[in-house]
Amino acid sequence: MSIARRAAFALLAAAGLAGTPALAQTTITIQHPLPTNSHYGAGAAALKESFERATGGRYRVNIQRNDNEREIVESVQIGTVECYIGSTGPVGNFVPAVRVVDVPFLFRDYAHARGALDSEVGQQILAQFQPRGLVGVIWLENGFRHLTNSRREVNAPADVRGLKVRTMENQVHMRAFSTLGALPTPMAFSELVPALQQGTVDGQENPIPVIVANNLNQVQRYLTLTGHVYSPGLLICNPAMLQAMTPADRAAFMEAARAAQRANRERVSADEASGVDELRRRGMQVVTQVDTAAFQAALAAAFAQYERELDAATLRRLRDWQ
Ligand code: PAF
Repeated sequence: MSIARRAAFALLAAAGLAGTPALAQTTITIQHPLPTNSHYGAGAAALKESFERATGGRYRVNIQRNDNEREIVESVQIGTVECYIGSTGPVGNFVPAVRVVDVPFLFRDYAHARGALDSEVGQQILAQFQPRGLVGVIWLENGFRHLTNSRREVNAPADVRGLKVRTMENQVHMRAFSTLGALPTPMAFSELVPALQQGTVDGQENPIPVIVANNLNQVQRYLTLTGHVYSPGLLICNPAMLQAMTPADRAAFMEAARAAQRANRERVSADEASGVDELRRRGMQVVTQVDTAAFQAALAAAFAQYERELDAATLRRLRDWQ
């Protein structure tokens, strides 16, 4: 019997109802790859608060950290973990239709990304999780990714040439970095800091909130605000877990997912506003003036390949969303 179930039983016993069956409590474990004090931590906490309150303690949400996103998605697929909060980084390896959202310079800004993903086109992508044994519950957010490295200031695409850059296990991102002449090295986030310390890689790319929350300034000197790709987040759950819920509990779970989305995006916005100054204060050398058009031009061959290999119609609908 779980601790909570024992506690419920003890209460009943104290009330003279020891013969009455104890209240059943179901535990849902959500894993995410970042510290509690982060944009994913904020989303997970909001979901927990909302769902536990709405279900009057019949459900307990257990939040755990696991900084290997691929491993979490695998666990959700086989049902040993109920839900994933994380980036789309490795998700295209499970649900290939997701890869379109990982294309560089697809979204102009946060309003564009959030609006397009919450619109019908974003919902159509989420609908493609089910045949892969997963439920794409709602879009969350990681943020626009920027490049850091320990070698040199990056001012132009040519400065990226020859850099060993850790990427997520994401074919779309790897294609972009190889097109720029970098040496993309895919690995789980859990391996990143040792790889930077040992010089296995020179650089990495992540949103400002991730760089701040993980103190990457301790292993990286140069930051360039490339904003080269928007990194969406996702809440993904195990289908059997959701099917086992009553319709009312499922509706409460969806409401909790929307609370998670609000808290997660609010935290990304807040961290973006203060993060660059914080990284400068911690000693990073920051390049803020970036010639985005030059990076886009340098990626022309990659864009042509995405048009051929990904769902070009969806790509266009996301890009043109107003
Ligand atoms: O770089 C990554 O792997 C991801 O951006 C991270 C830090 C795990 C957050 O989703």
